[in-house]
Amino acid sequence: MEFITDPAAIADWSARARLGNHRVGFVPTMGALHEGHLDLVHRARAVCDRVVCSIFVNPLQFNNPEDLERYPRRPEGDRRMLKTAGCDALFSPVKEALFEGFVPALYDLQGLDDHWEGPSRPGHFQGVMNVVERLFFHVRPDAAFFGEKDRQQLAIIRAVAAHYRWPEEIVGCPTVRAADGLALSSRNLRLSAAERTSATVIHKALRAAQDAAFHASIEETRSAALGILAAEPALTLDYFGLADAITLQPLGGWDGVDEAVALIAAQVGPVRLIDNVTLHRT
Ligand code: PAF
Repeated sequence: MEFITDPAAIADWSARARLGNHRVGFVPTMGALHEGHLDLVHRARAVCDRVVCSIFVNPLQFNNPEDLERYPRRPEGDRRMLKTAGCDALFSPVKEALFEGFVPALYDLQGLDDHWEGPSRPGHFQGVMNVVERLFFHVRPDAAFFGEKDRQQLAIIRAVAAHYRWPEEIVGCPTVRAADGLALSSRNLRLSAAERTSATVIHKALRAAQDAAFHASIEETRSAALGILAAEPALTLDYFGLADAITLQPLGGWDGVDEAVALIAAQVGPVRLIDNVTLHRT
């Protein structure tokens, strides 16, 4: 695996791959990799000839400086994992190089940030879109792979890419979970054993919403999930929402809806966790 820090060098690497008619798959990450990231690499590997992963802890998307400072970093372990996973190149730029000559843009997020993470983390999605654009600008991938765990992020990246006619294909990939249902996240590393056990109620609540959705009313579905969350004293709920799967607008009822999403954000100990599941009309 090639280790590249210079944006010009990753641009060359990618240009050479494309000249050789190789399809370039890209997995952008902030490091502290886990099986969920490796699954993205494997999915990219399955449909692309060359796979590049980036590790860059993006300061633009943290609205809390403490969260940025405490974001887990494990560069050596990450490199080993990516090599074993069959990644061809790791792009790990420093901030100054990645953002050289950069003028921040204000993207039209098409209202997809009106709810959920949007109000809780002002400026977060603009920060994500700006770094995604910078990374795409240097890597020039044919396809980029993102996890559905960050469902709102994925919806926004898809919408912005379509709106601004970016050439990259945006591929959404299913959330990878531990055996007890907890969605894998780099932030889980900061949970104590007891907090990690408490955090499993997030998935239990989402499952309860899945069981109730479309059979019970919206209010009953909400109550089923909220009851489970309320029974866990170690968890402080930020939001539980039932939203349209495409627009992510909150739902007032199930009429005319075939696919929805249940979303949760909650604080457990020092960590803010997010998760979601899709709700299908059966
Ligand atoms: O999902 C992430 O890890 C980050 O938000 C991303 C897409 C790499 C941008 O920094």
